[in-house]
Amino acid sequence: MTERTIHDPEGFNTSVWPIRAGHFVTPTDYFFTRSHAPVPHIDPATWRLQVEGLVHHPRTFTLEEITRAFPRREVAATLVCAGLRRSELLAVRPIPGELPWGPEPASTGVWAGIALSDVLRSVGIAEEARHVQFTGLDQVERQGKRFGFGGSIDVAKALSAEVLLAWQLNGKALPPEHGFPLRTVVPGWIGARSVKWLGTITLADEPSSNYFQSKAYRVQREVNPLDPRDVTAGIALSEVGLNAVIVDPAPDAVVRAGRVQVRGWAMGEGGRPVTAVEVSTNAGRDWTSARIIQDMAWSWVFWEATVDLAAGRHTLVVRATDSAGTTQPRELAEVWNVKGYNNNAWHRVAIHAE
Ligand code: MTE
Repeated sequence: MTERTIHDPEGFNTSVWPIRAGHFVTPTDYFFTRSHAPVPHIDPATWRLQVEGLVHHPRTFTLEEITRAFPRREVAATLVCAGLRRSELLAVRPIPGELPWGPEPASTGVWAGIALSDVLRSVGIAEEARHVQFTGLDQVERQGKRFGFGGSIDVAKALSAEVLLAWQLNGKALPPEHGFPLRTVVPGWIGARSVKWLGTITLADEPSSNYFQSKAYRVQREVNPLDPRDVTAGIALSEVGLNAVIVDPAPDAVVRAGRVQVRGWAMGEGGRPVTAVEVSTNAGRDWTSARIIQDMAWSWVFWEATVDLAAGRHTLVVRATDSAGTTQPRELAEVWNVKGYNNNAWHRVAIHAE
């Protein structure tokens, strides 16, 4: 069995680290989990998906109907939690009440199901519809209320071919903790929009009013002095920013001086290809190009580089560039935000060579 780290007392949030070099597709046993409430027990025989709101023909699907009515689609996609690398931001300023994730909550799965667009077209999208809202069947408690986790994406993304309603992960039925029997998979967007245990799809002229769209998963840089955890005035997160992570060596590793192998992953924003990954050992004055090992739309790439290290303490730095020519912010202070989302500053790992 794999050694899973449990990040909260209830065990909703778990991960396996480091990512193995061969795990371009993350085996399900190694896939991170991020849930805000206990996994609901769902009987597939009585489960229903409701599609409602600004549609011409609202409809309720059984599992049998949803899995048979539309062509099967498969997408390999990396899920990245918006809390990835939050722990580094704590060095800039405290972030109370949020899980101090390191680089663990990112994994790549082969998802199979149907295109969300096929379902939406079958019910007829009303002219005024702008957003597609998803609600899960779990029961989250926030601000004294219980409700299903939810979020929304705009209609343009919802109609993109890569967005799925998935019932399989890596060739098997979704495990309960990953959303059985059906979840959304929104490649390129923060993991929170890939709603697990899907119960309802609502088309609307505005984004979801669910807590996790309107009060969390928003980037706000100014702290509200009346409530330091409030991000209501921030911008709702959608795409995951370009990022690169050093997986090996680990922080504080002791390596042999000389040629040292560095490896990790990187991912472009909005599905754009990563065109370069570079590693520096002198705080960004000089860079060594890394070899990019895998390249598939909507998935991370793996990369590896060799650097020369004299005996002593060193900080390895990585940065990626994508096909739009975009590169990553240099400093953590540039990306710090109230809830510590989407940290994509240069990743630094201090190690010792001897
Ligand atoms: N869907 C529901 N219903 N409830 C949740 O708590 N967590 C979201 C998303 N979908 C969540 C959810 C978040 S924040 C992330 S990062 C991903 O699921 C994690 O998916 P995983 O647990 O399959 O890795």
